[in-house]
Amino acid sequence: MAIRIIGTGSYAPEKILTNADLEKMVETSDEWITTRTGIKQRHIAADGVATSDLAVQAARNAMEMAKITPDQINFISVATVTGDKAFPSTACFVQKKIEANNAVCYDVVAACSGLLYSLEIAVAMLRSYKKYKYALVIGAEKLSSIVDWQDRSTCVLFGDGASAVILERDDSLPDSEDCLVASELGAAGIYSELLYLPAGGSAMPASHETVEQRQHYIKMTGQELFKLAVNGMVGACRTTMKESGVKSEDVTWVVPHQANMRIIGAVAQRLTIPEERVFVNIDKYGNTSAASIGICLDELCRSGKIKRGDYILLTAFGGGLTWGAMLLRW
Ligand SMILES: CC(C)(COP(=O)(O)OP(=O)(O)OC[C@H]1O[C@@H](n2cnc3c(N)ncnc32)[C@H](O)[C@@H]1OP(=O)(O)O)[C@@H](O)C(=O)NCCC(=O)NCCS
Repeated sequence: MAIRIIGTGSYAPEKILTNADLEKMVETSDEWITTRTGIKQRHIAADGVATSDLAVQAARNAMEMAKITPDQINFISVATVTGDKAFPSTACFVQKKIEANNAVCYDVVAACSGLLYSLEIAVAMLRSYKKYKYALVIGAEKLSSIVDWQDRSTCVLFGDGASAVILERDDSLPDSEDCLVASELGAAGIYSELLYLPAGGSAMPASHETVEQRQHYIKMTGQELFKLAVNGMVGACRTTMKESGVKSEDVTWVVPHQANMRIIGAVAQRLTIPEERVFVNIDKYGNTSAASIGICLDELCRSGKIKRGDYILLTAFGGGLTWGAMLLRW
């Protein structure tokens, strides 16, 4: 039995916010944003559009590639920190909108590492239960809804978007055909306040004070995160390569979470992977958290840059703190 990726999809809302636009909103410059982060623009969802709406578009693209219908999907996993509502799960809203009426639905909260966490869980479910054949794994965010547009240290970084992956359990294939070669996930709750949303949960329910104090927006300690991000991703990547015996020169593409060009560069350098094998699209989307790796994967797939048998190394880092790496054989 083997688990295979049979479809990918992605979606970014039409509206684009450029660095020049941000120059008019906060005290910043295209030069500062570009040199410090590599971001030139980000996509922003319209008012009234929810994370599940972005997710649905990506899911439809992925189902089309996989040539499956919504009723064939056995479970939907949505990785997000910007769910439509505190509950029910955003996966349930996606299910309703695409009419995947036979699916079990749940969300995964692991911030920017969300898609990796979600893929690991989905693969484990498919391996464990013969009753599950098709999984719809989504990473989707409307980060613009929790960005403080008065805070220049964070508002320049984030964007909205969604991505989806369809996994299939194929009982006719040998185990050696499995797409997941090795994975390594990690978390360190002691650093939870380096990147978080203070209010709106049970620890600090919404009140007039929390709104006045702007506690419903992303708070971030950038510099400390930067170092931990590099160490976390490099460590996880090294573990997957060591476990599998796959060397850095065997990896066709590294697909890092798109948070900061300098973080991506530092990770590639420490893994001794040349930049032409590191996939980057941060300039177009900014940091789309759980959506970012799947958007990269979909762009790689649709541009014909991946062929069967290629080793693809995904790696991510995010709030939690959480991190991970996943070595795929395409
Ligand atoms: C956020 C980040 C780009 C900031 O870059 P940095 O080089 O660390 O910059 P600093 O925070 O030291 O700020 C340097 C100066 O730029 C200023 N600055 C911050 N944001 C700015 C902006 N958008 N425009 C202009 N100046 C800005 C700061 O106020 C500071 O000014 P000061 O020296 O007068 O105090 C960087 O720390 C980073 O990317 N960290 C990781 C964040 C991340 O990836 N989070 C998501 C994880 S999934």
